[in-house]
Amino acid sequence: MDSHSMHTHTCGELRREDIGKQVTLTGWVWHRRDHGGLIFIDLRDRSGVTQISFDPEHSGGTAFHAAEHVRSEWPIEVTGVVRERPEGQDNDKLATGQIEVLVSELEVLNTSKTPAFQIEDHVDTSEDVRLRYRYLDLRRPKMMANLQMRSNFTFALREAFHKREFMEVETPCLFKSTPEGARDFIVPSRTQPGNFYALPQSPQLLKELLMVGGVERYYQVAKCFRDEDLRADRQPEFTQVDVEMSFVKQDDLMAELEEVLADAFEQMGVHMELPLRRIQYWDAMDTYGIDKPDTRFGMHLHDVTDIFKSSKFKLFASAANTEGQYVKAINAKGAGKWPRAQIDKLADVAATFGAKGLAYIAFREDGKVTSPIVKFFSDEEMAALRAEMEVEPGDLVMFAVADRLTADTILGGMRNHMAKALDIPREGHDFLWVVNFPLFHWDDEANRLDSEHQPFTQPNENQMDLLDSDPLKVGSHTMDFVMDGYEAGGGGMRIHNADLQMHILRLLGFSEERAQAQFGFLMEALKFGAPPMGGFALGLDRVCMLLAGADSIREVMAFPKTSSGSDLMSGAPSEVSGQQLKEVSLRIL
Ligand code: AMO
Repeated sequence: MDSHSMHTHTCGELRREDIGKQVTLTGWVWHRRDHGGLIFIDLRDRSGVTQISFDPEHSGGTAFHAAEHVRSEWPIEVTGVVRERPEGQDNDKLATGQIEVLVSELEVLNTSKTPAFQIEDHVDTSEDVRLRYRYLDLRRPKMMANLQMRSNFTFALREAFHKREFMEVETPCLFKSTPEGARDFIVPSRTQPGNFYALPQSPQLLKELLMVGGVERYYQVAKCFRDEDLRADRQPEFTQVDVEMSFVKQDDLMAELEEVLADAFEQMGVHMELPLRRIQYWDAMDTYGIDKPDTRFGMHLHDVTDIFKSSKFKLFASAANTEGQYVKAINAKGAGKWPRAQIDKLADVAATFGAKGLAYIAFREDGKVTSPIVKFFSDEEMAALRAEMEVEPGDLVMFAVADRLTADTILGGMRNHMAKALDIPREGHDFLWVVNFPLFHWDDEANRLDSEHQPFTQPNENQMDLLDSDPLKVGSHTMDFVMDGYEAGGGGMRIHNADLQMHILRLLGFSEERAQAQFGFLMEALKFGAPPMGGFALGLDRVCMLLAGADSIREVMAFPKTSSGSDLMSGAPSEVSGQQLKEVSLRIL
C-alpha cells in the first residue's frame, strides 16, 4: 500500500527478501548495545522492531558518532542497507529476526527524558505510574497490540452492520437527565442558568426515537457515561456498540445480532457456533446461581432441600419445611484436600455474596470427613447427599440456606471463586444468551419495584394480567449476551404503546407529573405511530478485554480513569476558575 511518511518501511516489515535494499526507518531507540567497534540498536515503532547496526567503516563518521550518543526512547530516522544477520545471530522471536539494517545516515529527531519505567511488556510497574505516563505505557508492544485489536474489532463490527444495511447515526452527548439505574453526570447550562444537561447513560431513548423517525436499522459506536462505583470491568465513561431495529420480533433481532457478532468475531479468528445457545434466566440462576454463567466448567448448583425435610440439623430442616426457603449445594472437586483453616476462610468469601456463614463437608482422601455439621446428619441423609452431589474423595461440598435468589447468588459467587482458586481450565470462548429476565425485582432499600433491565422493556404478552396482581412473576422480552462469564451485552424488545409505558412507570413508583417531566417526550413520540422495535448494546470494552485475555477493561482503553474516577495524566477532574463558575451561575458549597 502507498503510504506517506518519512520512512520507506516500518520497523516490523523487513524480511530476507529485502536484503540488499536501501531503506529509511523511523522509530524509537529501544535497546542499545555498544560492542566497542560495533553498535546495535533495536529500533521500535508500533509495527515491530528492527535491529539496526553501525560500524565505523560503513556508518561514516557522523552516523557512528551519533549512535554512540543516542539513548533509550529517542526518536530517530536512519537510512541504510538491509543485510543478512551474521551467522548464528538470527532472532527467531522477531519477525524481522533474520535481517538487520547497516546504517549510513542517522538523524536524531528528538531527545527523551529517562522514562519512569522500562518500555517492556513484563515490567512490574504500579498501574498509577503507568497511567500517569500513559503515552509511554502505550509504547509497550502489548498495549499497542490491544489498541490495534480494538480498532480491528470495531472496524469488523462496523463492516458487518454496514453490509446488513444498518445506518450509523450519531446521537447527542448533551442530553436530558433520564436515569437508567446509575447516577448521571450533569453539565450546567450557561444560557439557561440553573438548568443542566446530562451525559447519556446510553442512547436508549434516542434510538427509540430514531425508530419512530423511521431509521429502521440503527447502530452507533457510542460513548456512555455512568457515575457509579468502578470495578475492573466498569469505567465511568465507556463504549457501547448500540443497535436498534424496528418491524422485528425478538427472534429476528437475535438472529440478526448473532450473524453480525459471528461475522465480526470471525475476523478476529474467533469462531462462534450459530445459533447461540439460549438459557432462560431462571434456569441460569438454578444451575449456575448467576445470570451471566461461565459454562466452560461444571460445578452446578443442586437443590438438596428435600433430603433434609426431617433432618436433626435444625438449620436445614427448618428451611426445608418453610415455603420459599431452600438448601442448595455445590461440589468443588479438589478443595476437599485443603487444610481446614483454608476451608474455614471461605466463609469470608461467601459473606461478600450475602451468606451469614458457610456450611461445608470436606471429603478427605483417606475416607474421613471434616465438617462442622455432619454430626447431625443421619446415614440416609449422608447417602442421599453423596449420591446427589456425586461425591468422591477430595471433594468439598458447600451449602447455602436461604430464599431462592439469595441461595443462588451465594453459590453462584462461590462457584466462580472456586473455579479461580482451583485454577479450573477454561479454554476457548464461551458465548450464550440469557433470555426472559423478570420484568421487575424488588428494591429493598427503596421499598418498591425496580426494573431488572430498564423501564422501556416489553413485558411478556401472555403475562400482562399479572402486571398488577403479581408483578414479580412477569417475564420480559430481554436477552443478555454472555461471554466467558461476563455480561458482554444486553437488550430486548421495547414498549411501543404510550399507555403501557405509563402503566409501567406508575408501577415503578412514578407519579404522572414526574413521568411526564422525565419521559413525556418519549411517551408523546410513542403516540405518533411508533413501530414494534427492539435492540441491544454490546459492551465494547468488555469484549475487547476478553479478546485480549486481559483482566481489566483499562488494558484496552487508551486513557482510562482510576477507581476514584481521576485521570492521573491530566489531573482531571480539577478545579475551574471563579469566572467559569459564574458563567454557569454556580457557587461551590
Ligand atoms: P446495559 O446497561 O446492559 O444496556 O449496557 C450494555 C452493556 O454495556 C456494558 N457496560 C459497561 N461497560 C463498562 N463500564 C460500565 N460502567 C458499563 N456499564 C455497562 C456491559 C453491558 O452489557 N440501553 C441498554 C441496551 C439496550 O437495551 O439496547 C443498555 O445500556 O457490557
